[in-house]
Amino acid sequence: MEELIQQYTDHAKNGFYSVHLSEISNKGNQAFTTSDIHNEKGVLLARKGVNIDQDVRQQLIKHKLLKPLDSHIGLKHQADTQTLINEFRLLMDKYPDLRVVNEALNYGAEFEKLLQLERLHPLMTQKLTVLEAQMHSEFEKSIFAAWLSTMIAREMGLGMDERRDILVAALIHDIGLLHLDPEIICSNRKLSAQEWRTVRAHVIVGKIIADSVPGIFPEVPRAIIEHHEDCFGAGYPFALNEDQLGIPGKVISMTDSIHSIRVKSFKNSQRTLGDITPYLQLNPTTNGHEVYRATMSVIKKSGLQPVRLRPDDCPQDYAKNLGKQIDILREAKQALDDIHENLLELSDRIDQQDVKQLSVIAAVTRRIRSTLHESGLLSSEIAQWLHKERDLSDVDEQVMGEFNEIELLIKELTWQIRNTVRMFYSYSDSDTTRDTMMLEHIETSIQSIQDIFNRLGGG
Ligand SMILES: [Fe+2]
Repeated sequence: MEELIQQYTDHAKNGFYSVHLSEISNKGNQAFTTSDIHNEKGVLLARKGVNIDQDVRQQLIKHKLLKPLDSHIGLKHQADTQTLINEFRLLMDKYPDLRVVNEALNYGAEFEKLLQLERLHPLMTQKLTVLEAQMHSEFEKSIFAAWLSTMIAREMGLGMDERRDILVAALIHDIGLLHLDPEIICSNRKLSAQEWRTVRAHVIVGKIIADSVPGIFPEVPRAIIEHHEDCFGAGYPFALNEDQLGIPGKVISMTDSIHSIRVKSFKNSQRTLGDITPYLQLNPTTNGHEVYRATMSVIKKSGLQPVRLRPDDCPQDYAKNLGKQIDILREAKQALDDIHENLLELSDRIDQQDVKQLSVIAAVTRRIRSTLHESGLLSSEIAQWLHKERDLSDVDEQVMGEFNEIELLIKELTWQIRNTVRMFYSYSDSDTTRDTMMLEHIETSIQSIQDIFNRLGGG
């Protein structure tokens, strides 16, 4: 941990933060210095009272700073409780299903009160202001996380202190992104292994920043660094296991997954949070059973139901297409089995450097194989049923609901397998010592998964 913190201290002091500060003035806000800024050798870089413009930014970015840049910064307009409440209300307007959850659980007033009671340190509201202006979707995600994670916390019966820690951590869990290269962070292209490492560093940078906030409760920085871990030991930055993880990080990890599915995967479809259940059922232990149970309970109490999709094309084609996707998953399963075999065979040969990362891949592979098994998607019953439905002429509402559920399961499993492939590439591109023979074996299997998925279309 110390080594990683050391490695990212300068990013947390400035990194690319001054780039965002210089840009927000174009959006109607102005960042200025509230004290003289020196580099680590004591040389003056910018005087008190100057605006962060292009020139100042150039000067700051070239040097290692003595103190974190944010401690020298004032903003003409800074976000406050009302800003957060407004964003929350906008979120409810934008996604009517969230409003259904909010109203069914009678949570809106309680959440707004929670926001009002929590006096966020100006350093945090400064980051949230910049996040709102520069990465609005991340800001919206923070509000979503704050709302849903504190609702899950209430459902878990957690006390007010823990709910407060979860609220604060959820609001600022991704602020580390503001300090990393925006060209990488905001990119839509395929990232290299090195670039993925940069993205992943946001949890470390975020923790360093949170640690610097006076009076912060220690659970907050801890939740920030743990929000991409999971209970299988398949997360980052430390691949910790369930017993090593705190509740707040687990809850935020859950809400981030739900956010990603609701906002990205369900985009351009009629799906709502009512369609999240198959995902949850496939992942009951990823963030710990208590978190799973409370989340399921929230969705259940909301009364939201999965949508009955009525695709424009005919249901027979739908059934045929699902069958095709299941065949592809079956092939991918075979390749995963090969990787598993290789890992077993070669486990004595890998050296200490490799062990951690490869055991993570092994953990993920094991997890997907068992999830695939438990999903029942590859069973002959499903195949026969789909085959039968292909020949039916009328559209049955219930059948359409079942198609929908199957499609959701396929999507989630496909995502998990793709993620494993990505993890493997991060490993094979890294500088750690490698066992060449093992790499060759596994690379062949990974390549075959890649080929299989290329047939599914879309990277
Ligand atoms: Fe994150």
